[in-house]
Amino acid sequence: MAELRLQDGSRLTDPTDIAARLTPLGVTLRHWPLPEAARARALLAAQVLADPEKEELLGFVDHRFRALAAESGYQARDLIVLHEDLPGLSEALAKFADVHYHDDDEVRYVLAGAGYFGFVGADGEQMLLKVVAGDYINVPARAEHWFVLGDAPRIKAVRYFTDKAGWVPVYTHTAVLLA
Ligand SMILES: [Fe+2]
Repeated sequence: MAELRLQDGSRLTDPTDIAARLTPLGVTLRHWPLPEAARARALLAAQVLADPEKEELLGFVDHRFRALAAESGYQARDLIVLHEDLPGLSEALAKFADVHYHDDDEVRYVLAGAGYFGFVGADGEQMLLKVVAGDYINVPARAEHWFVLGDAPRIKAVRYFTDKAGWVPVYTHTAVLLA
């Protein structure tokens, strides 16, 4: 389950406490069960997935995409698979490690591994949310945030898009205070 670290060093693990901090930011966090089929588990456990395997894994969770498409007009989804041996990983991650926002929502469903979303509140206070397998997150358009991986840099996550053009980072030059 997700964990939220605050600037005073405290750590929140209760979903209700975390929601109380994220809701004012417009951030939605849900926990969705992972697919349990043996084939899905094997794909989730693999370090690297070929494109057909990514599509196969997406197929196990596409009922989520269909629901999001019906509710909120999502048009596309893909699967990102990041791991320590991926060429260009550092360069790819560097784009999102500085504080930025997007003109569209940033919507992710973490299927394996973990990552950290940082947020900047209206009062400037920062917080760092660890998202893990099963966490669905919607970071709203224009919300200041950043994203990093942990010491074990592995994550598989579905990205949902209404329009890929809206998902370009706009940097705000706010200094990251939590790492
Ligand atoms: Fe982002």
